[in-house]
Order: sequence, then C-alpha cells, then structure tokens
Amino acid sequence: MGRRDDKYRLFSVEDLLTNEQIEAGKATASGERIGRRADLDSAEMYLSKEDHLLVRGVWPHSAKKSWMVSRIVDVVGRAMTGKWPQLGYIELYSGPGRLLDQSTGIELPGSPVEALRVRAPFDRYVFCDFDPDCVHALRERADREDVGSRADVRQGDAKGLSHLEQVAREFGRGTLVIAYLDPARPQDMTWATVEVLARQLPNVDLIINLPVNSLQRAISGPHSRDAEARAAGAFLGHRDPRQLMQWDRTHSHNVMGTIRAIRDFYDEKLKSLGFVQPGRRVVDYPRGVPYYDLLYASRHRLGVELWDRANPPDLPEPSLLDMGWTTGS
Ligand SMILES: C[S@@+](CC[C@H](N)C(=O)[O-])C[C@H]1O[C@@H](n2cnc3c(N)ncnc32)[C@H](O)[C@@H]1O
Repeated sequence: MGRRDDKYRLFSVEDLLTNEQIEAGKATASGERIGRRADLDSAEMYLSKEDHLLVRGVWPHSAKKSWMVSRIVDVVGRAMTGKWPQLGYIELYSGPGRLLDQSTGIELPGSPVEALRVRAPFDRYVFCDFDPDCVHALRERADREDVGSRADVRQGDAKGLSHLEQVAREFGRGTLVIAYLDPARPQDMTWATVEVLARQLPNVDLIINLPVNSLQRAISGPHSRDAEARAAGAFLGHRDPRQLMQWDRTHSHNVMGTIRAIRDFYDEKLKSLGFVQPGRRVVDYPRGVPYYDLLYASRHRLGVELWDRANPPDLPEPSLLDMGWTTGS
C-alpha cells in the first residue's frame, strides 16, 4: 500500500501535540499524522516512517498494556507448549500491528506482532479488526515475522456473532486458546462477545481491557447522554448499569465506589461462565486515577498464577527495550 495522502490530510507533529504535550514528552514524533478516523475509534493514526503503513498513536500507558500482554503470552507459550494438542491465539481488536508513542515519537510493535515474537510461538494465530487499513497493515507486518505463516489476518466485527462463531470454530475443542480483547471504548464491545468465545471454546483464557474510567463516566453521565450508558450496559451485560453508581453520605457520587462496583459486577459475570476470580492489573492515567483494568480470566487457577508470575503487582515500568523497540526496527 502506498502513501495515503490521497485519502487523509497530512499534519506535522506540531499540529498533533499541544505545546504542553510537546514540552512534557519532548515529542519528536516521526510518523506522518493522518488524523482521527471516526470509523476507527477516534485514535490518532499515522504512517510509519519505517514501512509507510498505518501506525496507531498511543500514550505510554497503552504501550505498557501491550507489554503486559506480551509477557503473559510469552509465559503461557513456554509453560504450555507440548502439554496441549494445539496452542491458539486470537485478537479480535488487533489494530495495525505497530504503535507510535506520541510522547516520544518512537514506534513500537503492537500486541499482534509481540504475540508472534514470543519465545515459544503458538501453533495458530487469528487476528481481526474491522478496519480494512489496519488489516492490510497487519497482514504485511505479520508476513515479515518468522512465524508469520501461522497467522491469519482478516477483517471482522467483534460484535458480529457469526464472525465470532466462525473464528471460534477454527480451533479444535482440545486447543488451549488465548483471546485478547482490546476495545478502546465501551461501545466497541458487548458482553455477547465474551459469552460466545467462552461458550464455544472450552479451553479459552481471556485477556480483557476493561475500560473502567470510560464505563464509570458513561454510567454517571447526564441523562442526555443515555446512549453512552446503554453502550456501557451492553459492554457489561447489565440491563440498568446506573444501578452500579455508588453514593457517599452527602449524596455525592462516589467515583471510586462506582469503579469498584463495575469491577465486582464484571468479575461475577465472568465467574458465571466458569472462570475463576480473574487476575487484574490496574493501569492508571494520570497517575493515581484508574484508567482501565487489564484482566486475565481463566477457568484454571494455574492460568491466573501464570498471569501473576508474568505481571507481578510490583512490576517496574517497562524500558523501551522491554517494549520491543530496536534501533532501525
Ligand atoms: C486499542 S486498538 C488495538 C491495539 C492493539 N491491541 C495493540 O496493542 O497493538 C483497537 C482496535 O479495535 C478496532 N475495533 C474497534 N471496534 C471494533 C469492532 N467492533 N470489531 C473489530 N475491531 C474493532 C479498531 O479499529 C482498532 O484498530
């Protein structure tokens, strides 16, 4: 795919970051910005300076999320190779396979590419995104990886039940599957997505981005924004998610209490599908404010133990090398 200037306006780095962000991050973003795209999820998208394919702009907390995911995928691959007839890996929100840290301008591998690079690669990978440009970019990038021939990259809506069933059918019931669900916003996923995977794949472990902050805001927002509350309800599988709001003695909204209620509710939903208490790491942004939780749901305690081993609570902040950055890559 060539440059997409024909389709998207190009911006300079100065357009993309506020002065504050540039000051704070000493931004030297290298990719060419192609702007926000409503059909995606309002993320800033760029063209990579390396391969001129689509790159997803992220802030450091998202890069850390990818890193934590790659650590658990690596640990499970190593621990489970030879113990199951087949190991499978699914991403339903794969993105283009490359991220641009907007605070530094450094490009990093996205979660699908990280998953292909683990020390004991899985037997089969299925990566999906509903955006054709992301699919195209990831397909090209997967092809360049050593185990790229094990990857099937395709377009599909993670809220489409027939798409989900089709993906799940491709893995035998005896396959240990890890499925990573990384919707950026509540409206991008529904509880049915989780339910279908859990029911069709008896040996699935789920890594889920639970966007607690957006869910809390959607639930507690004004009634004029009912659509957001409905999307939060669909995400959580809750008919009336405003019931999760918590109040303090002076009848003010207790934000942390609501976030805790969202977590408890979601954990119970997962348990109703046979999962044990999920492993959880909270990603703060800004510091001290829960932004989203990364959950590891398994039907076996060992799965959660592996998660804790891969991502202990006192895990230090990742370095660039931890996150897969190599000069010239
Ligand atoms: C947060 S990004 C994924 C980033 C990726 N996990 C990484 O770390 O490299 C979410 C992606 O989901 C895609 N998406 C949003 N809604 C979707 C849906 N309903 N079905 C499939 N893909 C969707 C967007 O196009 C976007 O590329």
